[in-house]
Amino acid sequence: MATISVKLLLLVLSAVDMLLPVRADEHEHTYTDTEEVVLWMNTVGPYHNRQETYKYFSLPFCVGTKKAIGHYHETLGEALQGVELEFSGLDIKFKDEVLQTTYCEIELDKGKREAFVYAIKNHYWYQMYIDDLPIWGIVGEADENGEDHYLWTYKKLEIGYNGNRIVDVNLTSEGKVKLVPNTRIAMSYSVKWKKSDVKFEDRFDKYLDPSFFQHRIHWFSIFNSFMMVIFLVGLVSMILMRTLRKDYARYSKEEEMDDMDRDLGDEYGWKQVHGDVFRPSGHPLMFSSLIGSGCQIFSVSMIVIIVAMIEDLYTERGSMLSTAIFVYAATSPVNGYFGGSLYAKQGGRRWIKQMFIGAFLIPAMVCGTAFFINFIAMYYHASRAIPFGTMVAVCCICCFVILPLNLVGTILGRNLSGQPNFPCRVNAVPRPIPEKKWFMEPSVIVCLGGILPFGSIFIEMYFIFTSFWAYKIYYVYGFMMLVLVILCIVTVCVTIVCTYFLLNAEDYRWQWTSFLSAASTAVYVYMYSFYYYFFKTKMYGLFQTSFYFGYMAVFSTTLGIMCGAVGFMGTSAFVRKIYTNVKID
Ligand SMILES: *[C@@H]1O[C@H](CO)[C@@H](O)[C@H](O)[C@H]1NC(C)=O
Repeated sequence: MATISVKLLLLVLSAVDMLLPVRADEHEHTYTDTEEVVLWMNTVGPYHNRQETYKYFSLPFCVGTKKAIGHYHETLGEALQGVELEFSGLDIKFKDEVLQTTYCEIELDKGKREAFVYAIKNHYWYQMYIDDLPIWGIVGEADENGEDHYLWTYKKLEIGYNGNRIVDVNLTSEGKVKLVPNTRIAMSYSVKWKKSDVKFEDRFDKYLDPSFFQHRIHWFSIFNSFMMVIFLVGLVSMILMRTLRKDYARYSKEEEMDDMDRDLGDEYGWKQVHGDVFRPSGHPLMFSSLIGSGCQIFSVSMIVIIVAMIEDLYTERGSMLSTAIFVYAATSPVNGYFGGSLYAKQGGRRWIKQMFIGAFLIPAMVCGTAFFINFIAMYYHASRAIPFGTMVAVCCICCFVILPLNLVGTILGRNLSGQPNFPCRVNAVPRPIPEKKWFMEPSVIVCLGGILPFGSIFIEMYFIFTSFWAYKIYYVYGFMMLVLVILCIVTVCVTIVCTYFLLNAEDYRWQWTSFLSAASTAVYVYMYSFYYYFFKTKMYGLFQTSFYFGYMAVFSTTLGIMCGAVGFMGTSAFVRKIYTNVKID
């Protein structure tokens, strides 16, 4: 059943893929002898920040003589990630050797020289693609005292082929030429074809870094988190079983006592708030929108990771992001269902408003940040600037796909599970919340709640951050799946314990507390991203800083909403369970 639905999903996915973007002609990845092979120039940017990129031809490189192919048609995911493929103008044919040939000359005036010197000083790299295989090369080099700057002018390409497919590309940069104003610099290339034994399916293996991603530390951290989960689940269930059994025993004994005894008996604990626990949370509209969004993010993460595990998404540019957007749009009913039913249970009346807020909460946050960063990117002429057409496409998806699907989900949720069928009645008058020790205050519980879940994921965060901010391809999605499952279990356990303590202190405001104590994981992740920025990356400047912290904030917030929703769902099942078993007079 599961495999069928995954297959179905992939089918729909590829159908949408075919409708939306236009495929390149090299999509087949097979060539006949002397068929044209296109070298695409992508981006150029500083080595230390793979996220700051500019168009290759933003540096005054010259274009080859061949003009036949125009601009590459990109997918939505590529456009959003700032992929800017432009034809290099180099004449390359399958299995056709090219000896060193000059393809164009740069007339180096003062302005062009300055542009190159700036790029060389900042360790600029450029990226190209042949048949979807990425190639990196350095722009140039400075001598030791940093006065003279040299440009690499000779691109030596070695292409490996297996049958009629390209399986390997190596680039060697040679021909160091000193940058002297008012000279002409000749750019040249050569192509050598070599028979290779690499299988087409394995051609991306050389870009992966198993010694980094499958390092002992990675395995160890997963194992560690796993032990923590077992320990935690054992501990939580033991504590709860014992205390709850004691609580039930005490409550039933109290019932046998007469009124006099009962007045003298110690009346305390979670049972006292049975008339208030199912009171609607504060700000029910916002609360149910957050829970709905969190459930959706959870399902999106699950599905995207499963798809990434089955299909090697990293072999195709931008396909990860395209998949995520598609899955997000397709899972909108989940958001509507959980948000809508929770809102109805809490007696909310403005359900249309709730639906709008729930549907646009995450898209607005992501687009808002992207818009802000886009402004800065446009100012710096970075290739990260998102084209206008792409923005319109994203808005259309929000309005014509996400919103209607959300409406369907909301209507289903309100009608199927919108009845407030709580095990205890809600008293008309709220019970006053007694004074308690400082560490029982909701704010303290919220701050402490995120520590353990963060502890279970922070090693994985290191790997994810590194693959996002440095030149590494993340491919161990099995690990990611395990960590997600571990995170959810730890989060649920921790929030249940937090809620038990809170209710025992006769404080019935458990809904927001459980949500926030789980969501505080994200605060720790964001704090960790500061550490990562200062100690693990070499980024600098307004553009890189705002880009880093902007997208990290989006990532952390999304993670927080997901954890919050998962924690709340687990806790509400727990609360319902304990109050179902208690006899209320
Ligand atoms: C590319 O370089 C690697 C490592 O040096 C080598 O094993 C491989 O054969 C080269 N491929 C081609 C096509 O030259």
